[in-house]
Amino acid sequence: MPNRHGVFWLRCEKKDFERRAALTPTTSKKLIDAGFDIFVERDEQRIFNDSEYEAVGCKLVDNNSWPSAPTDVTVIGLKALEESTDPLPHTHIQFAHCYKRQAGWSKVLSRFKRGGGTLYDIEFLSDASGRRVAAFGFYAGFAGAAAGALALASQRKGEILGPLSSYENETAMITDIKKLLGGSGKGVKALVIGALGRCGRGAVDLFRKIGLDEDDILKWDMAETAKGGPFDEILDVDIFVNCIYLSSQIPPLITHEFINAAGMERRLSVVVDVSCDTTNPFNPIPIYNINTTFDKPTVPVDVATGNPPLSVVSIDHLPTLLPREASEQFSADLLPSLLEFPSSPVWANAEKLYQEKVAEAVAVEGL
Ligand SMILES: NC(=O)c1ccc[n+]([C@@H]2O[C@H](COP(=O)([O-])OP(=O)(O)OC[C@H]3O[C@@H](n4cnc5c(N)ncnc54)[C@H](O)[C@@H]3O)[C@@H](O)[C@H]2O)c1
Repeated sequence: MPNRHGVFWLRCEKKDFERRAALTPTTSKKLIDAGFDIFVERDEQRIFNDSEYEAVGCKLVDNNSWPSAPTDVTVIGLKALEESTDPLPHTHIQFAHCYKRQAGWSKVLSRFKRGGGTLYDIEFLSDASGRRVAAFGFYAGFAGAAAGALALASQRKGEILGPLSSYENETAMITDIKKLLGGSGKGVKALVIGALGRCGRGAVDLFRKIGLDEDDILKWDMAETAKGGPFDEILDVDIFVNCIYLSSQIPPLITHEFINAAGMERRLSVVVDVSCDTTNPFNPIPIYNINTTFDKPTVPVDVATGNPPLSVVSIDHLPTLLPREASEQFSADLLPSLLEFPSSPVWANAEKLYQEKVAEAVAVEGL
């Protein structure tokens, strides 16, 4: 059935700990003011209360009721749908993680094919110049730097950072970190690589907000790494945050040998790998090999006996640490495209890509 123009259905998120939302009360209000109808599934887990949506004119519906929604509404969410073989008759806007031949990709796409639905994958929504219209990078870097500062504070007390849980808002996060660092982050030294990108700018912003001196925030991008790693400078800061977008093999930024050669002289205490190319054969930080989690945010690096400890934070869903601000920024970036939905080059290109990917899936699944 063709889409009913101007109707979005915000589904609940089913992934544990996921409190972010693709539409916030702020962006929902702007869509409603522009003539859209917005249905919102009641959701206890979401950082925004149901009443915040109701107050701006959204229509509340039951949790996880989208499968029985009229098939001409457009369902919007963030995370991939729960695994199932049910056909999908709706149009969905979401991150589906099935365009790069990830595990189970063709099964996911075949659900759309069998149901007659359409997928607009947010990861691939880009404007005429090829720039992504909405991404969570800034708050991934911001939250990554925050987790790094928390890990440093624990390490300074001879402890290991315990489980993390999402903060209600940015002020609560900054206040907590400053308190744990003894009142301010002043005196802490940090290096951000990929500092000109979305994640990198977020990491730099967090370090400023917790009180690091500007001179103590080293900001590196392509120019500074052109000489090729590993880099001594990484060993001389308290926290190193990697935010590069890895598009080809580069020499490692840091290695075990390099760390051990520095011995007791090493200042580096925490590495935050926001980029999380953990399982990539070209991982430029080959000193750890697992993704950490909110429950267990750090993994220790093997260092020579007697050397100071070193830990890595490698959480691959960092923005969840600050769900309100991360959702607001993301949803505000998506809003101009939503206001034009479905008739703009952004959506036309995304649909073309979907058709290509679904054709590949049809071939693989023999549909
Ligand atoms: N852990 C998480 O929760 C999370 C969330 C969002 C994004 N990410 C990841 O973070 C990475 C960065 O994303 P982004 O949106 O900030 O990308 P981006 O393209 O906005 O920025 C990447 C930056 O890295 C720089 N860069 C690339 N190669 C470099 C090199 N060899 N040396 C120095 N700088 C280099 C680029 O010039 C650019 O400034 C991606 O891998 C993305 O998947 C992780």
